[in-house]
This record gives sequence, structure tokens and C-alpha cells, in this order.
Amino acid sequence: MAFSIVKRYREYRINAINEFYLHINDLLEQESVQQLDDFIQHFCHSRLKHSMDVAYYSFFIAKVFGWDARSTARAGLLHDLFLYDRYNEDCDHKNHTKNHPIIALENARKITELNDIEANIIRRHMWLATLVPPRYKEGYIVTFVDKYCAAKELFQGMLSGHKEPVKAIG
Ligand SMILES: [Fe+2]
Ligand SMILES: [Fe+2]
Repeated sequence: MAFSIVKRYREYRINAINEFYLHINDLLEQESVQQLDDFIQHFCHSRLKHSMDVAYYSFFIAKVFGWDARSTARAGLLHDLFLYDRYNEDCDHKNHTKNHPIIALENARKITELNDIEANIIRRHMWLATLVPPRYKEGYIVTFVDKYCAAKELFQGMLSGHKEPVKAIG
């Protein structure tokens, strides 16, 4: 009985991972998405690794609830699609917390058509640090998963002493 549950859970996870990549493969082929691997996010991960984690965990939760898992995965991957280093002294992007969702949304629209859910997830993912909440329930998943991943990455970064960041592509 226990073996059968574990086996079924494993099969569910494998199927979920395959489905996840089917939803985002076209985005992963985009140059701007691949370039996210060159930027460090929260000290120990590349921005692409962070975005992949946010996208996958959010997708999995949306799938369990029976919500729009495809939009959640795609918007999760694109939620931080900005190509600058906010910690660089020469960086002229002011008010990063408020403005980077707007930049990410503009950049996402250059590489794919976004539905209303995807656009709103990206635009409002900084809620709590910004005032306006997401409009759709899927947006709350990405908002909270993003914060969970950021906290986890900051913690891992502190423990690892800020060594080479973990990359998604390598
Ligand atoms: Fe962000
Ligand atoms: Fe993020």
C-alpha cells in the first residue's frame, strides 16, 4: 500500500515535470531568457535558476488546486525578466522594487503573447513590497512562492559564503 502511494506520487511528479517543460520550452529558447543565467539573484542563484524554481513550484501548486497551471508556469518564468545588475554601482535603474515588474512585463511582451493572467502575475508579483495586489488567484501563488524562494536563496547564500552562483544552464 505505502509502496503503491510512493510509486504513484513519483509518477505524478515525473508527469508534472514533463508537462512543466512542455509549457515553457519555447520561452527557454529565447535569448533574453537564457541571458538571465548571467545575472546573480539573491547571492547564490542565477536569475534564471531563481525564475525556474519560482515557475516550477508555482506550477505544481496551481496544478494541485486545478487552477491555470500553464499561465502560472509561464508567468513564473518571466516574472523577473530584467537584464541589469541592481547591485552594480553604475546601475541607473532607480526604484528597482517598484519598477522591475514593469520592465519584466515589457520584456516578456517582446518574446511572447501574454494572456491577462500572465501579464497580471508579472506586473503584481512584488505585492506586499508594493501596494496593488494580484488580480487572479494564480498571482498569489507566484507572489508567495517568489518570496519563499528569495528567502531560501538569501539563507543559502549566507551559509555558502557567497560562492559561485548555481546556474540553470551552466
Ligand atoms: Fe521580482
Ligand atoms: Fe523573483
